[in-house]
Amino acid sequence: MNDVLVGVRDHYRATGLTERLRAALAALGPEDQRLTPQQLAALDQFHTRGLAATAELARLAGITADMSVLDVGSGVGGPARFLASAFGCQVTGIDLSELFVDAARYLTERTGQSAQVSFQTGSALELPFDDGCFDVVLLQHVAMNISDRTRLYREIRRVLKSGGRFATFDVVLNGGEPHYPVPWARTLATSFLLTAAATREAIEPAGFGVLAWQDDTEAAKAWIAQLRASGPPPSPNLGVVMGPDFAQLAANLGRNLMEGRLGILTAVFEAT
Ligand SMILES: C[S@@+](CC[C@H](N)C(=O)[O-])C[C@H]1O[C@@H](n2cnc3c(N)ncnc32)[C@H](O)[C@@H]1O
Repeated sequence: MNDVLVGVRDHYRATGLTERLRAALAALGPEDQRLTPQQLAALDQFHTRGLAATAELARLAGITADMSVLDVGSGVGGPARFLASAFGCQVTGIDLSELFVDAARYLTERTGQSAQVSFQTGSALELPFDDGCFDVVLLQHVAMNISDRTRLYREIRRVLKSGGRFATFDVVLNGGEPHYPVPWARTLATSFLLTAAATREAIEPAGFGVLAWQDDTEAAKAWIAQLRASGPPPSPNLGVVMGPDFAQLAANLGRNLMEGRLGILTAVFEAT
């Protein structure tokens, strides 16, 4: 693993995460009580606009029950669990952080979805899957941690069936350098933002044609304004996952969006 990947993995090194989750979830009921993906949404949807953004991306990608979906950079597994419960599809998640993968498996046991949703540790730059084995690949708020976009998008294309869909939801560079720390990077060393146009220029040559292209920045700003007005999110939330400085990381993301430094891109491509 190179220095950049080690730095990214360390950013998401959530020591003791599964135990912290177990303790925090006691507020929702006893350990043997089944939880719903919706109950976990404040802590397991690690991206702007939370569950609503995952639902919208899935709708744009046209996910159906007979599909096999890969979630690259699956975090603690919220998007994967939601897709399986909402559409009935089979979902595999892969993530660089072993601690996140452990936590994702634990949360999936708590929602009773382990037969439909599985997770493994691995890099997006070297996906441990055969060519052409997925109908849909999802990438939500992961690309900004990845410097080698050519290799990332080629790997995603390789594991997709011809005619399959690649759905991405990314933070993009807009009108200036962001203030750090942010939720995906405490310093510039692990942050590799591109503009929306440069993202498209990196994706298409990997063997993709665009199906949907949406600037989601205004929706993200409205979400930030609503969060600011409503005060701290209900507990347990993403602070349990990322630690006590998460409020500051999230506040900087909000500031960067509001100041026009960053934007949010939603896009769906077809594998040609
Ligand atoms: C901001 S979180 C988003 C998690 C999830 N996609 C979600 O929306 O809830 C970014 C995730 O990408 C993972 N990640 C970053 N670089 C990666 C890489 N090269 N390979 C696999 N996962 C990676 C991190 O470990 C982290 O879990």
